[in-house]
Amino acid sequence: MEKEQYKPRPIEKAIANQEPVKTERVETKFNEVFLVDLEDGGRVIFKPFDGEDFELKEYVQYKRERAAYLFDTIFNWGLVPPTVIREINGRIGSAQVFVEDARHTDGENEKLGSVFEKDVSRLDAFDFLIGNDDRNPGNYLIKEGRLVAIDNGLTFQAATEDEYPKYERAIVENGEFLKKLLVDKRGIEIFLNLLAELIPQTEIDRFKKRLAMVAATLNLEFSI
Ligand SMILES: Nc1ncnc2c1ncn2[C@@H]1O[C@H](COP(=O)(O)OP(=O)(O)OP(=O)(O)O)[C@@H](O)[C@H]1O
Ligand SMILES: [Mg+2]
Repeated sequence: MEKEQYKPRPIEKAIANQEPVKTERVETKFNEVFLVDLEDGGRVIFKPFDGEDFELKEYVQYKRERAAYLFDTIFNWGLVPPTVIREINGRIGSAQVFVEDARHTDGENEKLGSVFEKDVSRLDAFDFLIGNDDRNPGNYLIKEGRLVAIDNGLTFQAATEDEYPKYERAIVENGEFLKKLLVDKRGIEIFLNLLAELIPQTEIDRFKKRLAMVAATLNLEFSI
């Protein structure tokens, strides 16, 4: 049988193909990150592979940025801005739609009080499944009361499954949404085929294990 195909969204084609007209360095601690204006007026956050923190090079973070977006868009989470892999100024990396007028929380003080509670729970469930235990206040933005999950370069690597009790409440709270995801065999097949190009097989196996854990919590028959 033919492999099921992923159909890139129109916005992905735009940010992958538009020529850069201006590139500006964003202040960061470790990775080299750029805000790039594209010729159609769109803006992206560009993170080149050769600018990734050298101590974490093994992760190939730009591919994980793409993997997190694909998981988001295929199953309609609505958390991660469109993200593609492309070359800019001769460097390969991830290019993610720059979310205009979004802001960081002020960290510990503000916490997530101003955000819809169901979004917080949703982001927890999302992070469990993508193996991300590093959703610190630097790695999400708030726009109009909604959460935006950025900086997904270190996903598909944390053993979130070993800390399941921490996430279980979010899994139950998002039960209806997650059941739809788990029965979407076609979506899962498409996503797994794409993942194979982006992350090591051991991480794909762990992802499948996490899906099975969610299914068990939701009393759903599940096999892949
Ligand atoms: N899609 C986006 N939309 C708007 N702003 C963004 C987006 N992605 C990143 N930013 C901004 O750029 C900053 C740096 O991006 P990011 O957190 O992804 O880099 P980083 O890899 O964590 O860098 P470092 O860890 O070295 O500080 C973010 O803190 C945020 O302010
Ligand atoms: Mg960051």
